[in-house]
Amino acid sequence: MSKYYLTTPIYYVNAAPHIGHAYTTIAAEAIARVKRLQGHEVVLTSGTDEHGTKVERAAKAQGKTPGEFVDLISNEFQTIWKKLDLQIDRFQRTTDKKHAQNVNRLFEACKQNGYIYKGTYTGLYAVVSESFVNDAKPGDIDPETGKPYEELTEENYFFKLSAFTEPLLKFYDEHPDFVQPEIRRNEVLAFVKQGLEDLSITRTSIKWGVPVESDPAHVFYVWFDALMAYWTAVNGEDRWPADLHLIGKEILRFHAVYWPAFLMAAGWPLPKKIFAHGWLLFENDKMSKSRGNIVRPTPIAETMGVDALRYFLLREIVFGQDGSFSFDALVGRYNSDLANGLGNLASRTLSMIQQYRAGAIPQASSDPAIAAIVEKASKAALDAYDAFEFSRALEHIWSIISAVDKFIVERAPWKGGNSVDETLYTAANALRTVCVLVHPVMPHAAEAIWQQLGETGKIALGGALKTGQKIGKVAGVFPRLDAKPTIQKMQELEEAEKARQAALMGKAPEANFITIDDFAKVDLRVGQVKSAEAVKGADKLLHLKVDIGEEEPRTIVAGIALAYKPEQLVGRKVVIVANLQPRKLRGLTSQGMIVAASLGDGQPVLASFLEDVPVGARLK
Ligand code: MSP
Repeated sequence: MSKYYLTTPIYYVNAAPHIGHAYTTIAAEAIARVKRLQGHEVVLTSGTDEHGTKVERAAKAQGKTPGEFVDLISNEFQTIWKKLDLQIDRFQRTTDKKHAQNVNRLFEACKQNGYIYKGTYTGLYAVVSESFVNDAKPGDIDPETGKPYEELTEENYFFKLSAFTEPLLKFYDEHPDFVQPEIRRNEVLAFVKQGLEDLSITRTSIKWGVPVESDPAHVFYVWFDALMAYWTAVNGEDRWPADLHLIGKEILRFHAVYWPAFLMAAGWPLPKKIFAHGWLLFENDKMSKSRGNIVRPTPIAETMGVDALRYFLLREIVFGQDGSFSFDALVGRYNSDLANGLGNLASRTLSMIQQYRAGAIPQASSDPAIAAIVEKASKAALDAYDAFEFSRALEHIWSIISAVDKFIVERAPWKGGNSVDETLYTAANALRTVCVLVHPVMPHAAEAIWQQLGETGKIALGGALKTGQKIGKVAGVFPRLDAKPTIQKMQELEEAEKARQAALMGKAPEANFITIDDFAKVDLRVGQVKSAEAVKGADKLLHLKVDIGEEEPRTIVAGIALAYKPEQLVGRKVVIVANLQPRKLRGLTSQGMIVAASLGDGQPVLASFLEDVPVGARLK
């Protein structure tokens, strides 16, 4: 039996598991089942990525040590995977001792081969979070201190990524399906073709990480540590290289560029395939804590069953592309495809065998036309599974269901006649094939129908129903659901789960609300801009004088220069936070803050009024 090793990403512990994490893990678990069906000996790993400053801070905020905190959240991931009945063979944590040794082994191997050197790294540093800020420019203000980020230089080990531009391009060329889907491969090629820069892979400014054994003032920087978890998970098992790393598209570069480069540098084998899927959105919107639209998987599984969730995610979304989740669509698909489709075919076929043939599979062979449809669709479904095209595979399987439904109606076995045996055998045997084919996506329902067909062995490809076999007890697998109460129940459970996870992460859910007294503390006033000018040396800042009805206009330093020219502002009515602690910026003391909407691209849009309002009026 050939071996097959696949991985999910190892998830960060600074967020509790949600439906996005579940999406990847469910897809990986379904692939594992496809491979098992095809006779491979499969290992699927998942895990948690537990180092870094963010984790250290989250632990501190809860009064816990980082170790205590990561245990808690890693455990939460493992618990949720169990609740979703996902079969994970190994769960790898980056805080595992064996893992730390392996990261050092990778480092030493790269070093021995001449791909590691010591250099200095200079970057803008946020003091409170004790980390470098990658996307800030000199002069940018650290929101946590109100002061510009500090420039900090530290000694780091560097990885000579630049040496791998050509070797990687050659590798992609020789292994055209290393990165999939095609669109992701093209992204990777375009990125590498620009030429790669060396990578700083250690830090002395972080404490919560894997220490560099040969130089313990350093810890490894996140990705050098994280990627190696794929190796550690099967260390000593003769499983490497991995056959597949399944990931979300946002971590493509780390997997398709850095990871193969690290392994080439060490002289170790490269994984065979990286598949990056798209993002799961909520009602076409990005899921995020600040939008409050994160969906958790367990309320859905508890209400509709794990299989319904698995089916929806893999059928609704074209794997590889972005897709959207919504409760309406979930229940809609459940009723149309599962209750009226597969569930209905199973119950009508089995009940007729019960009723007309005393529960024994009749002696007949399949109708040749239906048998041909089943064979063709099965092959197409398996091919689609091989390409990880779940939605297409399921479409092919459902083409069998509709063909058999139509066949039953045409034959009308309830009218009796000579063809009843053949009709019932044909339908039941097709149902048996459907069971095998949907098993990777809906293992529980497939098992249930399999048993109702009277099958006792393991679900496996090939074979046919045996004449005379007694069917099991017939019970509906997908009862029809009333949309409104079902959705309401899921949303109630969702609220409870949200609160439970918030408590786990150390945040009281009430913290989302402030009292009216809290709000009353903020002194918001209508002001009028009297003058505006650029601030020297700071391209985002404007120096404003704003009249808020006091004797003197206030000096306000505002980060709005990229959106507004000084002359656009003079005379304009604006909203000012008048009792904010004064703060010094570029030698000016800002005596308040101007209120603006902050859009996704970072551009501010000033708050204003449609009616004329007097200067100095209070907002409340
Ligand atoms: N720790 C890194 C991965 C290291 S792998 C060596 C990380 N962790 S993460 O917690 O942010 O998880 C990211 C992965 O979770 C994504 O790549 C994707 O597989 C999954 N997803 C998280 N949210 C998702 C969506 N909204 N939609 C689809 N997948 C999502 O990055």
